[in-house]
Amino acid sequence: MDLVADVDDDFVAQHGFERGRMILGSRAAALAVTAELPAVRQVAGGSAANTAVGVAALGGTAAFLGRCANDALGQGFRDSLEAAGVAHPVDFGPPDPPTGRSIILVTPDHERSMMTFPGAAASLATHHLDPAHVTGGAIVFIEGYLFYADDTARAAAAAAGWAAAHGCTVALSLSDPNCVEHNREPMLDLVRSRTDLLFANEEEITALYRTRDFGEAAAAAAADVQTAFLTRGSAGAVIMHRDRMDAVPAAAVPGGIEDLTGAGDLFAAGAVFGLRRGLAPSDAARVGAACAAEVISHHGARPEADLQKFVADAGLL
Ligand SMILES: Nc1ncnc2c1ncn2[C@@H]1O[C@H](COP(=O)(O)OP(=O)(O)O)[C@@H](O)[C@H]1O
Ligand SMILES: [Mg+2]
Repeated sequence: MDLVADVDDDFVAQHGFERGRMILGSRAAALAVTAELPAVRQVAGGSAANTAVGVAALGGTAAFLGRCANDALGQGFRDSLEAAGVAHPVDFGPPDPPTGRSIILVTPDHERSMMTFPGAAASLATHHLDPAHVTGGAIVFIEGYLFYADDTARAAAAAAGWAAAHGCTVALSLSDPNCVEHNREPMLDLVRSRTDLLFANEEEITALYRTRDFGEAAAAAAADVQTAFLTRGSAGAVIMHRDRMDAVPAAAVPGGIEDLTGAGDLFAAGAVFGLRRGLAPSDAARVGAACAAEVISHHGARPEADLQKFVADAGLL
């Protein structure tokens, strides 16, 4: 669950947050920051969950495999998935550890900086997953945040293995630059061994390949995966596929940008949905850019407009 607050740049620095990135926080640290926040909005979030909701909103079928505690936040989170038409076959965990939460600070430039206390989310283990739930999907979408905890990293590897053995497409989102810096070796291993579709922003992909040069990182990604969707904020995205490199611009944001939370997640939703509809990767990326534009036009990381209509009005799909 996301706890979102509008703050100034000083608040971000004073509380040890890192601009545009996610840091992990203990339960105590998360509670301490929460107590100092001005008005807080509690909204459902979670990177891969946002992507699943986006796919469902586009008319696709999606299930979310992740764990929350049996507490008020967990109930609210699962209710949000149900309302969005996303299945959630993994059972609730016990009330402790509590449902994970991410404190999201939105600064006047609309950038988001996060502190996450993963709680129950970090307890997802391989035995919570039914292989049929994984192999029943055409695309298994794994968020890189899973690499922060041993149980979740093993669950991600298991899911990727089942998916690959069944001929499902494996998609991986690198999630966050700090996440890549802390878990680089195992993430690179999954990229090289089993990933078909890679999603990363510029900071993440350059962290993965340890270079400051975006072009160099993009070329390395192209050598490792079938298709790499590399996003660059307002500069749009670069798609590496076979020996092609296509640039796709960011879409216009109706009414202006409000909150950048969820941009990458909804870009991924549009891109995977577009691919499933048979679009070429660069056209799928245009659907992704349109979905990202919708989610950054308002607060929160879940779509609010009718995404199917929004994408159709943009002349896509
Ligand atoms: N400032 C912006 N203006 C317009 N579009 C944006 C902006 N920031 C993000 N987007 C859209 O969202 C996509 C993903 O954003 P990006 O910031 O690269 O990823 P992340 O959310 O993972 O940091 C971009 O490719 C673009 O389509
Ligand atoms: Mg960004």
